[in-house]
Amino acid sequence: MLHANTPAQSAAAPPSTQGLFITFEGIDGAGKSTHIAAVADWFAGQGRAVVSTREPGGTPLAEQIRALALRQDMDALTEALLMFAARREHLAQVIAPALAAGKVVLCDRFTDATFAYQGGGRGFAWQTLRALERMVQAADSLPAAAGRGARVLQPDLTLWFDLPPAVAARRLSGARAPDKFEAQPQTFFEAVRAGYVRRQRENPRRFARIDANQTLQAVAQAVEQVVAQAHPPRAA
Ligand code: TMP
Repeated sequence: MLHANTPAQSAAAPPSTQGLFITFEGIDGAGKSTHIAAVADWFAGQGRAVVSTREPGGTPLAEQIRALALRQDMDALTEALLMFAARREHLAQVIAPALAAGKVVLCDRFTDATFAYQGGGRGFAWQTLRALERMVQAADSLPAAAGRGARVLQPDLTLWFDLPPAVAARRLSGARAPDKFEAQPQTFFEAVRAGYVRRQRENPRRFARIDANQTLQAVAQAVEQVVAQAHPPRAA
C-alpha cells in the first residue's frame, strides 16, 4: 500500500538538493493538518528549506478564491474551475518557484482533493477534471517547473489520511462553525472518500495511505515512517 517505499522507487526519488513536493489529503476531520508541522520540522531538522502552504489558497488571490469557494453555493463546474484557478496562481507564484529553488513544499491538499470533492463528492465528470489538471499543471507552461522531467507537475509523495466518514463526523461535531464542505452530510464524505480511493488506484506510486483511525501518536509514527522511507535523510 505504501507505494513509494520500495528501494527501487526510493532510488528514483529526486536527490535531496532538488525540490520535493509533498501533499496531504483526506476528508474533513481526518486530522492531517496536525501532522504537517511535524513533517516540516523533520525536514527543517535536516537543514532543508521548507514551504508549508495550502489549497485552495497560498497566495493573496488564491485565498480570496478560497473564501468564495468555501462559503458560496455554486454550480459544480464553477466550483472546479475556481479550485483550478486558485491552484494555477499558487503553482505559478509559490509552488513551482520553491521547487526550482530546491525547497521542500508541503501542501495541505492539492489536485487529489478536486478529484475527491468535485469528482467524487459532487459527481462531476472525472475526464473533465483530468483535462483541467493537464492544462493547469502543464510543466512547460510553468517555467520554474522545468527540469522536473514530467509533462504534468505532480506531487512526489501524497499522504492520504484515511478515516471512516462516521468517525470524521464525530470528530467534527462540536468544532467551530462548519464551512460549506464541513456542513455536508456523511453520504457526501462517503463519496469523497470513494474519490480518494479511485485516485489512489490511478496513482499508486505516489500515494501512501495513512490509517488515520488510530491515536495521534500512532498516526504521527506512521507519517514519519512513510516520509523517512520515501525520502531518507542525507548521510552526514
Ligand atoms: P481545509 O483547508 O480545512 O481542508 O478546507 C478546504 C476545503 O475545500 C475542504 O473541505 C476540501 C475543499 N476542497 C475542494 O472541495 N476542492 C479542492 O480542490 C480543494 C483543494 C479543497
